[in-house]
Amino acid sequence: MAGGVSTPALVAAVGSAGALGFLAAGYRDPDGLRADIREVRAQSAAPFGVNVFVPADLTDATDRSEPTEPARLAEPAWLGGYRAALAAEERRYGVSLGTPPAIDTDHWDEKLALLAEERVPVVSFTFGCPPGAVVDRLHAAGSCVVGTVTSGREARVCVDAGLDALCVQGPEAGGHRGSFPPRPPAGEVGLLPLLALVRDEVDVDLIAAGGLMDGASVAAVLAAGACAAQLGTAFLGTPESGAHALHKAALVDPAFPGTTVTTAFTGRPARYLVNRFIETLDALAPPADARPPAYPAVHHLTLPIRRASAAAGDPDAMTLFAGQGHRLARDLPAARLVEVLAAEAAQAAAVMTRRLAPPADA
Ligand SMILES: Cc1cc2nc3c(=O)[nH]c(=O)nc-3n(C[C@H](O)[C@H](O)[C@H](O)COP(=O)(O)O)c2cc1C
Repeated sequence: MAGGVSTPALVAAVGSAGALGFLAAGYRDPDGLRADIREVRAQSAAPFGVNVFVPADLTDATDRSEPTEPARLAEPAWLGGYRAALAAEERRYGVSLGTPPAIDTDHWDEKLALLAEERVPVVSFTFGCPPGAVVDRLHAAGSCVVGTVTSGREARVCVDAGLDALCVQGPEAGGHRGSFPPRPPAGEVGLLPLLALVRDEVDVDLIAAGGLMDGASVAAVLAAGACAAQLGTAFLGTPESGAHALHKAALVDPAFPGTTVTTAFTGRPARYLVNRFIETLDALAPPADARPPAYPAVHHLTLPIRRASAAAGDPDAMTLFAGQGHRLARDLPAARLVEVLAAEAAQAAAVMTRRLAPPADA
């Protein structure tokens, strides 16, 4: 979980408890990422993963169906309008909008070199499929390579590129949708039917993600054919998570009306708790399929506002990422949460087995 949420302490704690923790490479500079990897290794001998954002520039380059280069040179049609819409937020927080760089690959080349050098056990990707050469390089370094998909079509692309396993992310999930640009996200197919659709398309290990908050839900996705469950929001409230204290509190605060998916904060659809910023700006934000893509330009534009909001202790313009099950977040140490989830899943599986057994006198 990017943005400082997946701390080395969180990754080490869940790894030592028998789960697989992921560091976030997204938004982290290569030196910071290297320090995080070394810190996890200092705290735990357990395997761990690193999650990497596939840059839009790279993903566009793998999809020649649309002319992205000329589009990038022109001022995006949505940019002026959205800048104007954000002016009131600039005034409210006393900041100026950020400046999007012409091209932002989030240190893609440096991070891949670092991951190969550090021989990270699992490397996962989101926002697109890494090129086959990248997959080969990570395989040569001994890494298992995982993609994030939100449709059967994306799953097919990843398997054709040689990825070993897929995280199937349902629309219930907190945080950014992992869908590949330039197409809009694949609608609202819920996690269980999505798992079945992806299973029908490809034959690799599937990791289910989205709205899973307790062990019974973990058991449900394992029963549906996933080899593992991936939980984000459930771990936000743990003491090891680097989420802001206001974010942790908001997850279980009934004052928040629930979650929604919006492009308003970063230009890419993501699920958050609804706050004032989203209520005001969602309707004015660029569409998910804006050309050229609005992510990461909008991420850079709104960053000063989000930082100022957090610094002021005001959750109204913070990015309160949360999945649909957020109210069920538990304030438990991460290792204890892993234990509880495993026990709940085993219990749910036992109940299911009993319910499925034929009656004794049949
Ligand atoms: C705060 C937060 C940050 C996230 N950051 C990332 C990320 O950097 N990379 C990624 O692939 N997914 C990220 N996700 C999505 C998770 O990988 C996962 O799909 C999601 O948390 C599952 O849904 P849940 O939150 O309902 O458990 C993030 C989710 C949250 C809540």
